[in-house]
Amino acid sequence: SSTAAQAEGRFAFTPIDIQTDATVHVPDGYRWDLLIRWGDPLFSDAPAFDNTTGGASEGADRVFGENTDGMELFSVGEKQVIAVNHEYANRDINLPQRAEGQPDNADDVKKLQNLQGVTVMEVTRGAEGWRVILDSPLNRRITHLTEMEIKGPAAGHELLKTADDPSGIRSLGTFNNCGAGRTPWGTYLTCEENFNGYFGSTDPDVDLPDGYGRYGIGLDGWGYDYHRFDPRFDISQTPNEPHRMGYVVEIDPADPQSTPIKHTGLGRFKHENAEVVLAPDGRVVVYMGDDERGEFLYKFVSRSVYAPGRSTEGLLDDGQLYVAKFHEDGSGTWIALTPETTEMSAAEIAIFTRMAASKVGATTMDRPEWVAVNPISVEGYCCLTNNKNRGVKPNAGGDETPANGPNPRTENHYGQIVRWYPANDDHAASDFTWDLYVMAGNPLVHDDAYAGSENIHAVNLFNSPDAMQFDSTGLLWIQTDGKDSNEGDFEGMGNNQMLVGDPVTGRIERFLTGPTGSEVTGLCWSADRRAMFVGIQHPDAPFPDGEGQLPRSSVVVIEREDGGLLG
Ligand code: FEO
Ligand code: CA
Ligand code: CA
Ligand code: CA
Repeated sequence: SSTAAQAEGRFAFTPIDIQTDATVHVPDGYRWDLLIRWGDPLFSDAPAFDNTTGGASEGADRVFGENTDGMELFSVGEKQVIAVNHEYANRDINLPQRAEGQPDNADDVKKLQNLQGVTVMEVTRGAEGWRVILDSPLNRRITHLTEMEIKGPAAGHELLKTADDPSGIRSLGTFNNCGAGRTPWGTYLTCEENFNGYFGSTDPDVDLPDGYGRYGIGLDGWGYDYHRFDPRFDISQTPNEPHRMGYVVEIDPADPQSTPIKHTGLGRFKHENAEVVLAPDGRVVVYMGDDERGEFLYKFVSRSVYAPGRSTEGLLDDGQLYVAKFHEDGSGTWIALTPETTEMSAAEIAIFTRMAASKVGATTMDRPEWVAVNPISVEGYCCLTNNKNRGVKPNAGGDETPANGPNPRTENHYGQIVRWYPANDDHAASDFTWDLYVMAGNPLVHDDAYAGSENIHAVNLFNSPDAMQFDSTGLLWIQTDGKDSNEGDFEGMGNNQMLVGDPVTGRIERFLTGPTGSEVTGLCWSADRRAMFVGIQHPDAPFPDGEGQLPRSSVVVIEREDGGLLG
């Protein structure tokens, strides 16, 4: 095969070819197994999965949810716990008995609400391999209905108050949980992305409040139809409810009774993930992308420092939010979003972060997805997944989106990964320099700039980098969410995949391919780093159960056949 050559250097595997089939592939010497699928029980009282109904509505909050996405593994004493997001619903699959998956009643809506959110689950490796421990006291489902506490500058603000919560500090549920992160104090961060899609109006003539347009909140929603059966999602009835979503939420995986916290100080936008790193002085730095065309890359820096054993109260609430400005000369600036720079109050900056960032002239980006920080070198990376409609604003009030330094292509089907080096090796610094780690492209069909950067070659082709994690050795694992037609501009790219990048040499090679129609998203390691957990989201092939069965988003576990380390 074209990839027969054993990879050199730091890659302990032979790169695999593209695939276009309905299963997962990994290199020789590695194997994959299923860990858990949508609908698998977390508790023994949960209903068994039913292929004709997609599972009962009753008990949908007792099973592994739909559309696995970002995840992290935590050690809780001797136990290992994975927290994992359930981003959205595949309605036609989750409600297969309804035409086009359209909810028919309040029970259908409640089922969808319960299949999304977050799972916390204890995992262990036995003689038969890795499995989820049914009925572990650490198992937990967090859904669109779980009580949350709101903290930070917007907590209690008028715009967050509703009839059900006149305090503005108690909300229900976390929504469209996309990417993830972890804090140094052992908590999970889950990031609310396309929350706008859950809202609609039963009154077609209602006036939309200021601030809806930039976030894409409108009368119709994206087909979840919550608003027809649950007045909380009917903007003609509960116009402030959308202001209570679009945040980063902190969950303590060691305490199933704990109340998740929405941290408004990290801003409100279509959060992809939250990559946390400590500055040299101990301040907490959180990097975050806003995944929409023409939106921005952000950073939060805490006011206080983290010190093990000391209270972490306020570390994600009290601090400064910045937005990135990339200069054409390869330098860059983090611009503080303050009442002085934006003429907005601290609460307004937290709620309408996109508008605040536009006021300071931040750099419009090609859909910032995951940020990853190298653990052995002071540098950050962000996937800019693609931009298929440059110049067409996705939402009212957005900025013009010309091609620019880190987003150089007018028509960007392939995406790129931008890298920055903080000044003084300090992630809290206001200045940085930047370059492009990779411009994805296709040298099989283009011989111009669309062929991609020098580290793209005929046998590592991919498009739309999305999720991204560093391992402990400083290798960068890249997961894709792109076109898998394998034709035209995408010839030679096959199904979505996971690749490994060496930040030093720039080399990138393919490690895993997913089933047809799926996106590969979410990655974490066992405590001993001999297992890697990978998310397979929204397959349209009947993965993993085969023909005649509903496709089910799944977490798979990868091990080396010789039991060696994976990162
Ligand atoms: Fe949920 Fe931007 O990916
Ligand atoms: Ca993503
Ligand atoms: Ca994506
Ligand atoms: Ca996705």
